[in-house]
Amino acid sequence: MVNYKDLGLVNTREMFKRAVAGGYAIPAFNFNTMEQMQAIVQAAVETKSPVIMQVSKGARNYANASILRYMAEGAVAYAKELGCEHPEIVLHLDHGDSFELCKDCIDMGFSSVMIDGSHLPYEENIALAKKVVDYAHQFDVTVEAELGVLAGVEDEVSAAESHYTKPEEVIDFATRTGCDSLAISIGTSHGAHKFTPEQCTLVNGVLVPPPLAFDILAEIEKKLPGFPIVLHGSSSVPMDEVNTINQYGGKLDAAIGIPEDQLRKASKSAVCKINIDSDSRLAMTAAIRKHLAEHPGDFDPRQYLKPARENMKKMYIHKIVNVLGSDGKLAIQ
Ligand code: 13P
Repeated sequence: MVNYKDLGLVNTREMFKRAVAGGYAIPAFNFNTMEQMQAIVQAAVETKSPVIMQVSKGARNYANASILRYMAEGAVAYAKELGCEHPEIVLHLDHGDSFELCKDCIDMGFSSVMIDGSHLPYEENIALAKKVVDYAHQFDVTVEAELGVLAGVEDEVSAAESHYTKPEEVIDFATRTGCDSLAISIGTSHGAHKFTPEQCTLVNGVLVPPPLAFDILAEIEKKLPGFPIVLHGSSSVPMDEVNTINQYGGKLDAAIGIPEDQLRKASKSAVCKINIDSDSRLAMTAAIRKHLAEHPGDFDPRQYLKPARENMKKMYIHKIVNVLGSDGKLAIQ
């Protein structure tokens, strides 16, 4: 059993309080490779931003749970080495699907966990979330729970249809579970194919998806003033990365994400954590495909992973500075 405080990590409580009050959102970037971890830390240090590094069940299966935990511990040391004396790094479990998985992560040093019972009947979702909260809070680990269902596929999480969060349920849910933050469904979804072209409107040659349900977000904020709200499925699926992938042999048809102005608007509300995974995958794949197409003789992974890392870092910095607004928001600069 190791407590996250001994690893130099922080939970989400204070950073969310500041983010809600300050009208910005903390980036929650998924990682499962060393290059993603390095790029996230470099971006957070250069922009002086708090950051949530999140690990899904699929990432643990891919990379090994212990390795990812040690990478997060390494991330704190790396941030300090890069000159950030007081980094604020959260190690978060993304989409925990059982009490046992959440407990395992808490026991191995995670500072925050998500228990995703959103697919369960309402009372079962509450009972499961409360069980995780009761365990997590003994160790000052913060808990994110979810109400409403997001469509899309992400690692082992998938749902065919989305169901918007019902504002009339949020007070009861937050009170009875004791969760620290609430993930809601207002029109985002997981993956790189969030909308079909038929759902979009063509504006100046660009397919613009339907707007997020800001009316539902406003109603939720009214019911739970100041309560931290989380948006999953918030990749923007940048067209330049998709075009690069397709130009160099890829085949990503009709990849459409959430426009960044929608996320900018959400960041200014009680939304204080925005989850981004697919954009990192796209940035990495685009850079690798381009490099290998232009340098067919290269076979040392460092030759193509270096530009991939650079491209991800550029994307992370862009999100922090231009979309979420969390730059310069470390408690101690
Ligand atoms: P994207 O697929 O939009 O990046 O969403 C990631 C996410 O929500 C992780 O939980």
